[in-house]
Amino acid sequence: TSDYLIAPSILSADFARLGEEVDDVLASGADIVHFDVMDNHYVPNLTIGPMVCEALRRHGVTAPIDAHLMVKPVDRLIGDFIDAGASYVTFHPEASEHIDRSLQLIRDGGCKSGLVFNPATPLSFLDHVMDKVDMILLMSVNPGFGGQSFLPGTLDKLREARRRIDASGRDIRLEIDGGVKIDNIAEIARAGADTFVAGSAVFKASNPEDPHRYDGVIDDF
Ligand code: DX5
Ligand code: ZN
Repeated sequence: TSDYLIAPSILSADFARLGEEVDDVLASGADIVHFDVMDNHYVPNLTIGPMVCEALRRHGVTAPIDAHLMVKPVDRLIGDFIDAGASYVTFHPEASEHIDRSLQLIRDGGCKSGLVFNPATPLSFLDHVMDKVDMILLMSVNPGFGGQSFLPGTLDKLREARRRIDASGRDIRLEIDGGVKIDNIAEIARAGADTFVAGSAVFKASNPEDPHRYDGVIDDF
């Protein structure tokens, strides 16, 4: 897992032409499609669900889709995202009554599993499930919206998460989400992240008329 992966968050894409937006970022070198699911309950915003994930697959997207579930409860939607073609399914421990069961549901469905940590959520939720996660996602903003500023306290938390992963000897990705920009990504990588979500930094970056407008952006990361 030493390679770095860039995961544009389609939360900041133009939803009226989502298929083309996703094609464009992937053609420009993005590795993963980060898919933010918000339910106006666990977080104060409402976005997209499994039907849109399935539509991207039908459109021909073959890259990994990283479904970040900001919903409560989570278990029923886990099944829906498995059926919709998600590759990773991650959820917030506060949003599940039975974290171990939810992780197992994801793996049983053939997807990679992950836990997501809000800025104030302790990493101790990992204590008994390190063997059940394929990804640890640290939020560097409070979830709900794109375009917020990176919370610097997340760097220490990344270092702690990296220590836990290294000590486990397992193949677990360490993803960071929120306020990732070209000018802070190197520092974030040094703190231990290997998978980088970027929403506004990618999709708000350039001229919508230019079909290759994301080329430079992904390369700069
Ligand atoms: C926030 C979402 C993020 C968001 C990041 O709740 O989980 O994925 O899209 O957007 P930026 O990169 O603009 O902070
Ligand atoms: Zn996200």
